Amino acid sequence: MAIQEKLSLMIPGPTPVPEKVLQALGKHPIGHRSKDFQALVESTTNNLKWLHQTNNDVLTITGSGTAAMEAGIINTLSKGDKVICAENGKFGQRWVKVAEEFGLEVIKISAEWGTPLDPRDFKTILEKDKEKEIKAVILTHSETSTGVINDLKTISSYIRDHKQALSIIDCVTSIGACNVPVDEWEIDVVASGSQKGYMIPPGLSFISMSKKAWEACQKSNLPKFYLNLKSYRKSLSSNSNPYTPAVNLIFALDESLKMMREEGLENIFERHKRHKLAMSSAVKTMGLKLFASEDYLSPAITAIETEHIDAEEFRKEIKNKFHILLAGGQDHLKGKIFRVGHLGYVNDRDIITVIAAIGNTLLNKNKISAKQAGEAMFTASKYLKLD
Ligand SMILES: Cc1ncc(COP(=O)(O)O)c(C=O)c1O
Repeated sequence: MAIQEKLSLMIPGPTPVPEKVLQALGKHPIGHRSKDFQALVESTTNNLKWLHQTNNDVLTITGSGTAAMEAGIINTLSKGDKVICAENGKFGQRWVKVAEEFGLEVIKISAEWGTPLDPRDFKTILEKDKEKEIKAVILTHSETSTGVINDLKTISSYIRDHKQALSIIDCVTSIGACNVPVDEWEIDVVASGSQKGYMIPPGLSFISMSKKAWEACQKSNLPKFYLNLKSYRKSLSSNSNPYTPAVNLIFALDESLKMMREEGLENIFERHKRHKLAMSSAVKTMGLKLFASEDYLSPAITAIETEHIDAEEFRKEIKNKFHILLAGGQDHLKGKIFRVGHLGYVNDRDIITVIAAIGNTLLNKNKISAKQAGEAMFTASKYLKLD
């Protein structure tokens, strides 16, 4: 591949992988029942708990993020259970599909794509449920399809007040990007995936389970075998796995979690925040519109409306000219928005580069002036650490 064709991944997963992590992936596999591997599992488990800010069990599953989402449902609920599923984007809709597939009775809370879920909707329904029939509240924290971050802190507090319902949350693009203090917010089930803030390739997913979630697990009657989390918990007590794990991805995970610990949670969150602010301010300066409500911008991804330009064509031009891969809109948003992922192994230079590429492409189309393109870079650089 020509040097100029080095691909820069600015999509919300898979995300770029650090050199150290790539090297770990390239190691010769070791036996998954060996002492060396057990030591690795012990280390990754401790660091996963650190990342989730929890003393709960955090289990590692071989499978993508959706495996952890499905595991969250089938291990804690029973056929016919009443649940709230919230949807304000593609991944919220996925929750609804999984819940319905397993025969749960779904009460939907919806908000328009691009707007956040309203916590009061949760409060109202949960307060009315005097018989405590609602068994779980299921939602997406960072809605990758629209670039919206939902107010999980407030919603979790209403779920806690209900006392009976479990919180089952998709934190696939929020863990490792912003604060998700699992114990402080008392979140029962948290699902995430490796190809996001974790900075490793796709193939692993993670699920954090509270004491209350394990109690529900004892009563759950939904069918499960590979994703039966009781087997994972039992094996984890001896730092092992019930089935052959993706050994090399665990090498990678160990490396990436060590890198994250070295950077520190606060610094990680701060980095994602300044990238979000730099992106959003540049977008506005270029006269483009943010798709998500401004007070609810995800730290992982910025979704941008293109109005008079076909977003798919625009993305293609940026890929061909700059070798920067951006994500498109999903479903009815295809061609209408493009999305810039700034999650995981992304630095300030990556952000200013993607802003320059967007500005240059708009300038070539006579959609903005050279002054505007320059101002966008200048505005963004005020948030970035570029020296
Ligand atoms: C918010 C969110 N939830 C769930 C998923 C599904 O994860 P996977 O594709 O790893 O199964 C994704 C992946 O993009 C996501 O962004």
